Amino acid sequence: MAQKLRIAIAGTGFGEQYAVGLQASPDVEVVGVFSRRLERAAAMAQKFGVPVSTRNFEDLLKIPYLDAVAIVTPNSTHAEFVREAIRARKHVICDKPLAMNGEEAAELYRLAEAAAVRHVTFVPYRFSPASVAIKTAAQSGQVGRVVSVTASWGVDLREEPLRWRFQRKLSGAGVVADLGAHIFDLMAWWVGPIKRVLGRCRTLMPIRPGEVGGRRRRVDVPDECWVLLEFASAGIGSAKLSWNAGRSQVVEIEGDRGQLIYESPSLLQWLQGKSGFAPSAKLALAPKSARVTDLPQQNKDFARPEDALARMLGDVATYLRGGEKPDCVATFRDGAQVLHVMDAVEQSNRTGKWVELPSDI
Ligand SMILES: NC(=O)c1ccc[n+]([C@@H]2O[C@H](COP(=O)([O-])OP(=O)(O)OC[C@H]3O[C@@H](n4cnc5c(N)ncnc54)[C@H](OP(=O)(O)O)[C@@H]3O)[C@@H](O)[C@H]2O)c1
Repeated sequence: MAQKLRIAIAGTGFGEQYAVGLQASPDVEVVGVFSRRLERAAAMAQKFGVPVSTRNFEDLLKIPYLDAVAIVTPNSTHAEFVREAIRARKHVICDKPLAMNGEEAAELYRLAEAAAVRHVTFVPYRFSPASVAIKTAAQSGQVGRVVSVTASWGVDLREEPLRWRFQRKLSGAGVVADLGAHIFDLMAWWVGPIKRVLGRCRTLMPIRPGEVGGRRRRVDVPDECWVLLEFASAGIGSAKLSWNAGRSQVVEIEGDRGQLIYESPSLLQWLQGKSGFAPSAKLALAPKSARVTDLPQQNKDFARPEDALARMLGDVATYLRGGEKPDCVATFRDGAQVLHVMDAVEQSNRTGKWVELPSDI
């Protein structure tokens, strides 16, 4: 395995959490920070003792002995930054969603494979102890043949001004891209691929105050989404995503011998120190009321936000240094699969019809 991973971070919003997690490892050195505004890059570099700060992404790629780049900028910028990093033969972590659509994401996957660089789509909920417990239980067949999977999640963004998330050219499909990137990934990771979808999207808050000056502006992305799904081998399911109410992630996997019930508060809010984090994973064996038990969870690495970040990004870094890929680490292939789901939801919303997903990316 490579001695030390020398990595640069593009993005100073959620990117700060990457710095916390990556710097916790003695085998990782954060060597550069990019932000569009130099003062923001410089402030983050100073906070974390990082030698290079820049407002030009290509400057990061010129840092001597750089091994990898983490891309944590708005969704519309991911593809071009990833392409540049791959051209420079750097390993890449890209935050979710990997790109603006499935075709673009699949292209990034193929480019990374052809260049033999390691590629990761960062989807942190996979690492949560409850999520890992559900994955283990779903794969063990404890609930028998899976017949349905239902999910819902809401993050209340009603007070948010019109930032990039609410603009199609910068965010893609709004709530579908933002929350769907996590939920569709978890569903497919736990029970296998999604085959086709029927989606409905709505914008309940079509006008928001602008970020600067407060002038009211039109939103052109959905803030509500309802989806019916068919899985390749896990029956039927549904997902409800909302930016108009704060609700825990809840996913129920119904099998012919019982049920798995996952519930998780916002990981992001906890990482940012705004709330607690006590996700649960339960098993209810048929008849359902007879026995509901908590699934065993390995909580020790999730005692504090900084421990969780160290664990998640430590696993990613070990993989980028040449280690085995932990199951929780998603690749560009996974990122592309989820983007195909989002594309199909939007297409279905436009046509009113079920939309089949491609059988491969
Ligand atoms: N995995 C998760 O749980 C999670 C959580 C939060 C966010 N995210 C993802 O992380 C990414 C960034 O989100 P965020 O909330 O951190 O956003 P943010 O707070 O708005 O930060 C964005 C960063 O990107 C820079 N930036 C903004 N517009 C840019 C442009 N057009 N070109 C290049 N750089 C630009 C900003 O620079 P300046 O500020 O200097 O202009 C800033 O450094 C998104 O893809 C989001 O989906 C993931």
